Order: sequence, then structure tokens, then C-alpha cells
Amino acid sequence: MLKVVDLRKSFNNIEVLKGISFEVKEGEIGVVLGKSGAGKTTLIRCINGLETFDSGEIIVDNIEIRNSDDMKNMRGQIGMVFQNFNLFPHMTVLENITEAPIKVLGKSRKEAEKIAIDLLRKVDLEDKKDDYPFQLSGGQQQRVAIARSCALMPKVLCFDEPTSALDKENISKIQEIIRRFKDNGMAILIISHDIAFSKEMADKIIYIKEGILVDEKDIDLN
Ligand SMILES: Nc1ncnc2c1ncn2[C@@H]1O[C@H](COP(=O)(O)OP(=O)(O)O)[C@@H](O)[C@H]1O
Ligand SMILES: [Mg+2]
Repeated sequence: MLKVVDLRKSFNNIEVLKGISFEVKEGEIGVVLGKSGAGKTTLIRCINGLETFDSGEIIVDNIEIRNSDDMKNMRGQIGMVFQNFNLFPHMTVLENITEAPIKVLGKSRKEAEKIAIDLLRKVDLEDKKDDYPFQLSGGQQQRVAIARSCALMPKVLCFDEPTSALDKENISKIQEIIRRFKDNGMAILIISHDIAFSKEMADKIIYIKEGILVDEKDIDLN
């Protein structure tokens, strides 16, 4: 479903991704594990089209992405849940989720709301649809962000450090919810520096150190 081939990216002549290749299949969770500065956020931003890359390929559902034009055609195929959730503060939970289906996919409000309610049920937040983000806990905001990303029905869902702002209880909740989407056949890519979380969730762990893939034994997260 998601395939990354020899991806390279430099900032100011310093190469931060030095040829990264891996694959995450349908219904699989891939975790990219590495310490701070390893290049994880850059990698996920390239995959999401938020950052250009210098060479290599990103293949989603057999469609190859090499440049920003290819990226435009991919809109909606890759969902992203940001570290700080990035919800629209002036919109209710329901409006946060229906915004993109209406504006990007041209769905009617009624149709978009039906999709949103189904998704809110899936993240166990059906009763919060009329709340504003500030009325929700961090864990709840994150689940709204997941519902919002999934409203465009992406093939691949990406998370940047999903556990970094959560306590233990919310970590198990997010694990449960991510598994629900996996079981529905989505390919999931999680960026993390949390070994316990990664080992519990991953079908496949991709270890990254200073912009290259390494073996488990060569990784040092301390
Ligand atoms: N926009 C940027 N401009 C210059 N350097 C950057 C930029 N973004 C990231 N970097 C550098 O790339 C390296 C990898 O960063 P990042 O991908 O954020 O790592 P991680 O998410 O694993 O902590 C770091 O050395 C960082 O300083
Ligand atoms: Mg990061």
C-alpha cells in the first residue's frame, strides 16, 4: 500500500534522509523508531507532501510520487495526525470533521455529517460532536484529529509521535483505536521514539538512525 524507495532529502546541503526504503502493506502497522533528530518528522512530512524530497520514490496504492505535481493528485490518499493535533479551534468537533469532505470531496453537508458521526462512533466520541476543541482533553482532541483525517478515506494513515502527549490510560485507548483502523484494512505508519509502544503495536519496525535504516541492535534511544 505504502512503499518508500531510496528517499533522500537535504536541508542546506546536509543530508537528513540518506536513502530510506521500506514498505507498509494494507492492514499493517509500520513503526519508524529512532531518537530525536534521526529524521522521522522529515520522513513523514515527505510522505505527506508537506515537504519536497530530492530523489527517490513514494508509492501509494501503486501510484508513484516523484514530485509536487504527483503529490497534488494524491490529496486525501494519505491522512496525517499531527503531534499537536492541529484542530480548527473555532469549529465544533463535527465541523472539524466535515470541513474537508465538503470542501475537498464536494460532499453534501448531510452526507459529510453521516460519515463524521460514523467516525466519531469509531473513536468513541459520539457524544462530543457539538463541543469545541478547548472543551476536550488532549486524548480526546487526538481522537477527533484521527476522525478528521479518516473523513477523506485515506489509504494510508500517518501519526507523528502519537503517544508523546498522552498518559498511560490514553495510550491504551489510542492503541485500541489505531487497531480498529488497521482491522478495516488501512495501512498505518507511526513515527515514534517509544520502544514499548512500538513493539506492542508494530507488524514491522523500521529503525532509523541519522537518516539511514539500521538493525535493531544498532539503535540507541537513550
Ligand atoms: N526545515 C528544516 N531546515 C533545516 N533543517 C531541518 C529542517 N527540518 C529538520 N531539519 C533537521 O533535520 C534533522 C532531522 O530532523 P527531524 O526530521 O525533525 O528529526 P526527528 O523527527 O527524528 O526528531 C535534524 O538535524 C533537524 O535539525
Ligand atoms: Mg520529530
